[in-house]
Amino acid sequence: MIVGEKKVNHSLGSYSIYLSEDFKGLKERIENIPSVSNIIIFTERPIAQLYLKYLELELAGIKPSIHIVYLKGGEKNKHIDRVKKAYHQLIDIGADRKSLILAMGGGVVGDFSGFIASTYQRGIRFVQIPTTLLAAVDSSVGGKVAVNLNKGKNMVGTFHQPEMVFMPLFTLSTLPKKEWRCGIAEIAKHSLLAGGHMWEDFRNHSYSDMKYDSDILKKMILDSIEFKASIVNQDEKEGGVRQILNLGHTTAHAIESLTKYSKYSHGEAVAIGIITALILSVEIYKFPKELLKEIVTAMVKYDLPSKDSNKASEIFEHMKHDKKKDGNVLKFVLLQNIGDYKYGVPVEKKDIIQAIKTQVNLI
Ligand SMILES: NC(=O)c1ccc[n+]([C@@H]2O[C@H](COP(=O)([O-])OP(=O)(O)OC[C@H]3O[C@@H](n4cnc5c(N)ncnc54)[C@H](O)[C@@H]3O)[C@@H](O)[C@H]2O)c1
Repeated sequence: MIVGEKKVNHSLGSYSIYLSEDFKGLKERIENIPSVSNIIIFTERPIAQLYLKYLELELAGIKPSIHIVYLKGGEKNKHIDRVKKAYHQLIDIGADRKSLILAMGGGVVGDFSGFIASTYQRGIRFVQIPTTLLAAVDSSVGGKVAVNLNKGKNMVGTFHQPEMVFMPLFTLSTLPKKEWRCGIAEIAKHSLLAGGHMWEDFRNHSYSDMKYDSDILKKMILDSIEFKASIVNQDEKEGGVRQILNLGHTTAHAIESLTKYSKYSHGEAVAIGIITALILSVEIYKFPKELLKEIVTAMVKYDLPSKDSNKASEIFEHMKHDKKKDGNVLKFVLLQNIGDYKYGVPVEKKDIIQAIKTQVNLI
């Protein structure tokens, strides 16, 4: 049953994001996509084991033939080296310009399948079926698709908008806690950028409220999607305001790289990075110190960390590879207050180092 819908506008039209209890309603919406020759489901085996039977049950009797392509999970498999095999699999299936890819999984499946859809025969249609919280509130919204190179994440990508996004909420019941926290960190980010009732909701709830109260979960997911959609509607290709979605990510990428992607999940690193950005915001924009304390307290309720113990100079060294640089100067997204953001703020090395040192001694 569909429980919510948000529309995303883009330069070539628009698409809907549906929040649903289960898979019901997907079939009729796929049938509304004109002239689909065949359907290719891209997914990972562990996700297929849990949910493919439900998807197939929903699609039973649909006219186009259905085929399945299995991808290996994990960031290292969202890789350019897997791309050629996927094209060959599509050719063997008989995929043509009227084929439709269904990407069922987290951000890894969504980004990879979206990249294949955007390039196979110069672009075919695809539908995102997110099964992680992060994919629901972040990666499936906005049309960015990419694969990794050995020398960097998301180095080869395009913008390719889906026909729709259909989120079956019941799939979150099997999501490990680590993956919940990845989505929650992005919800925290959206709440701080949006302010108002989104921040109030985040501050007043906790991890267990989200996991065990479906009304709270639905509201927080829908609000988060709405916020991200409103930003990407204004700036589809990240020339301007879309950059705010990088809040916390400069430090996050640096500590992930410094700790060889093994100490923190991406969500934990983003949570730490948000706090670094807020300490800089206190220094540069007089962001209220008492709010910083409230935010750290809120992060704790979602079991998210707020600091890292590595040396500030080492973290800084790893920031130098950040894509959001102007010459040698790093640029940050900062807040003047909750809901009042600034992006492209140049910050000097000494201020960054000082902020990270302050962060280690926080609370
Ligand atoms: N395109 C964008 O705008 C954008 C934005 C943010 C992140 N991303 C990308 O998203 C990716 C991360 O996505 P993610 O956090 O969803 O990770 P993921 O896709 O790797 O999924 C995390 C893990 O959860 C498992 N899983 C998925 N759904 C499950 C379920 N319902 N039950 C049990 N297990 C399940 C997966 O098999 C995987 O092991 C990164 O590659 C990142 O670059 C893209």
